[in-house]
Amino acid sequence: MTSVLNKKLAALTVLALASCKAGGDYQGMEYAPNMYHSVAYEPYTQITDKDAGRWVTSIEYEDGHAEYYNSNNLNPHKMNMRMPPPHTVSRNYMPYRLPADSLEVAAKKVSPLKGDEKAILAEGKVLYEIYCDHCHGAKGEGDGKVATGVTIDGVERGFYAGVANLKGDAYKNITEGHIFHVITMGKGLMMPHGSQISPEDRWKIARYVKSLQQ
Ligand code: HEC
Repeated sequence: MTSVLNKKLAALTVLALASCKAGGDYQGMEYAPNMYHSVAYEPYTQITDKDAGRWVTSIEYEDGHAEYYNSNNLNPHKMNMRMPPPHTVSRNYMPYRLPADSLEVAAKKVSPLKGDEKAILAEGKVLYEIYCDHCHGAKGEGDGKVATGVTIDGVERGFYAGVANLKGDAYKNITEGHIFHVITMGKGLMMPHGSQISPEDRWKIARYVKSLQQ
């Protein structure tokens, strides 16, 4: 009796283990498959086939649809997300309309930053250290590591010629608007940073550069 039971148990175990084997196109037997296969959420389309995903369906939906069906008749465009109206501009985005060669006009722009001067400078310093320090140097003297180059194992590397010394006479009197414009659009050998740094942060850096120059 026990030996028959043992044989049956062994056969069952073999069967159970064999069903776990995955490989090639066969992902193996899955217990509770809807734990692995999340329902794809499609913002621009709706799945109108009521039987889509029947094989993973575990909930009984009131109208009998299957797991992947997601159509809603409240939205007239067969989409889950509505398209924003034409010419919509995301919040906090202010287009900068001055062309690169309008430095003189840009220089007259006044910084919109108001309030705690210490906080503005503190944040400007952090941002300067991220975006400018490596070229212009900690004090703005044009002696950052990228500008002077570093010597590794006797080989000079990372040389970027012509970085401006922001404390030099030529730059002493430039305005915050001027600096903002140069950060945004770049100038000469300096590449623009407008796409990397938000306008508010650019004004903070400009304020900090002015403080470095004093
Ligand atoms: C990859 C190196 C590099 C980085 C990074 C860089 N600069 Fe420059 N910057 C230069 C070079 C080179 C020049 C000189 C451009 C020229 O005259 O051709 C310059 C020039 C300037 C000038 C003088 C512009 C003028 O009126 O002639 C300002 C101001 C300035 N940079 C500010 C910044 C600030 C602020 C940052 C950080 C957001 C920054 N730069 C990041 C390389 C860099």
